[in-house]
Amino acid sequence: MKFFVDTADLAEICDLAATGLLDGVTTNPSLVAKSGRNFLDLVAQICEVVKGPVSAEVAATDFDTMLAEGRFLAGIAPNIAVKVPLTPAGLKVCKALSSDGRQVNVTLCFSAAQAILAAKAGAAFVSPFVGRLDDIGQDGMGLIAEICQIYRNYPEFHTEVLVASVRHPVHVVAAAKLGAHVATVPPAVLRQLFNHPLTDKGLAQFVADWQKTGQTILDNKRS
Ligand code: E4P
Repeated sequence: MKFFVDTADLAEICDLAATGLLDGVTTNPSLVAKSGRNFLDLVAQICEVVKGPVSAEVAATDFDTMLAEGRFLAGIAPNIAVKVPLTPAGLKVCKALSSDGRQVNVTLCFSAAQAILAAKAGAAFVSPFVGRLDDIGQDGMGLIAEICQIYRNYPEFHTEVLVASVRHPVHVVAAAKLGAHVATVPPAVLRQLFNHPLTDKGLAQFVADWQKTGQTILDNKRS
């Protein structure tokens, strides 16, 4: 399973990239607005830090402008995945960019039917938003189960299920159990994945007991 971080905060991205566990990055217009940064500069910098796919979203909603924006964004770095909305025009752009050999992430997916269309349009990734479905009382992870099942039925589909709008570690584990290819996770949730109180408690005990031995490993002293 691949982990992408869902943020436009470059400092967070650098920090998490240093763990060696980061496979890519997703941004969206809301995250870019929150960063206060110039979008094109920011995306170029992210692409230097993380070599995996970096999703950069088009801003327009009509076919011609989205296609032009998508081609422009794709020219920034080879690891750009152009993000387009799951609309008829967005899928048309997806088809065109995919045919050019570009990676496309189809975003704002909320149904299995939409995910089938994204796969048929040649998307590299489809992004079902589990948290936003949960927020309105629907079953976000149920949608992931449906899409994974459908995609498995069609080996000619090469679209990866990118679980988005992740709110907590339970979403990540549930996505992994279902065999989703990728989870894009906010930095705070990514850090939560490392934590367990028994790890902290156990480590404190080991550190205390080790001190009682009076030894240091790097002294290279043997009896
Ligand atoms: C995915 O690519 C989106 O950027 C993101 O996961 C949306 O999450 P939100 O529902 O927390 O805004």
